[in-house]
Amino acid sequence: PITQTLKEKAKFKIGAAVKMKDLQNEANYKNAVLKHYNQITGEFEMKMASIWTSATAYNYTAADYLVSFAKDNNMEVHGHTLVWYDSFPEWFKNAKYDSIAFEAKVKVYITDVVGRYKGRVKSWDVVNEVFADGGAMRNETVINSLFKDPIGFYGRCFRYAKAADPDAKLFYNDYSVVIDGGKRAAIKKMVTRFKANGVPIDGLGDQFHYATDTNRQTMKTGFTDMASTGLLIHISELDIKVNTGKSDSYVFNDTEAQKQAETYKYITTMYEELPQAQKFAISTWGVTDKYTWLTSFWHYKEYPLLLDADYNKKPAYQGFLDGL
Ligand code: XIL
Repeated sequence: PITQTLKEKAKFKIGAAVKMKDLQNEANYKNAVLKHYNQITGEFEMKMASIWTSATAYNYTAADYLVSFAKDNNMEVHGHTLVWYDSFPEWFKNAKYDSIAFEAKVKVYITDVVGRYKGRVKSWDVVNEVFADGGAMRNETVINSLFKDPIGFYGRCFRYAKAADPDAKLFYNDYSVVIDGGKRAAIKKMVTRFKANGVPIDGLGDQFHYATDTNRQTMKTGFTDMASTGLLIHISELDIKVNTGKSDSYVFNDTEAQKQAETYKYITTMYEELPQAQKFAISTWGVTDKYTWLTSFWHYKEYPLLLDADYNKKPAYQGFLDGL
């Protein structure tokens, strides 16, 4: 039988979050990215804390590397992310700017970064993770204490990005969007306000860090509701957890692999049902189980991706493909 890869079969982009160091150091990793994917996102290389190293300096080394890697290999870049509370550099938070100075700095940052990659980074997560579970404004972020109207500030961030690259597609990105009705309502309210005021938002990303036991009907209902905005829809950081109890003795066996494959199939089938005009990309948060952030960042055994630690296709890969 003819076996297609993900990017060959899909009628939209198939993205992966990648790390520069893995692309540089491991041929098998790089080859897997090239074989299966046609869009990349830096796992942290294009975050504010990575680029904006001091009040007077940018470090573009890693971001530039990813952008030329993509160009050389005919892939797109999805930029992640311009404004995220969790990635404001320490020096920036410590500077204790007032709202006017803070916004002026962010405007310069957005203008410089989006401008540098104009035409080469085709899409950006302009704003990431503004809402807490349930839909209240997230209180970790300095923005809430600085601005009386945080949403107004976020809207202006979209305008700054648009001015720097009018052709780039601009996204709001968050997690649990399709399973958290309160958060989704807050996002929809923001989108309605943005549209009414001409804020240039093109799309919504749901990260899709879910699990084999995430309720599918809930997911589907939420997905339909999210799509009712009419915006582009990005499944932006997809991975499907199997070790839902985070147990050290967890064994990833055939039954578990099959459950995971079915979940992936359910998700890609759901995405396929979107009107073509709202399709943008499905992007996985990583490439191989060898390097999933759930293990490196959250420190427990996980197998959430489409390729195993030896870069072989898992049943999840076939499941993903079957839904397309
Ligand atoms: C994570 C990366 O995977 C980690 O390597 C990093 O150190 C912390 O951030 N939501 C997001 C991503 O929008 O930026 C996060 O990435 C995962 C959750």
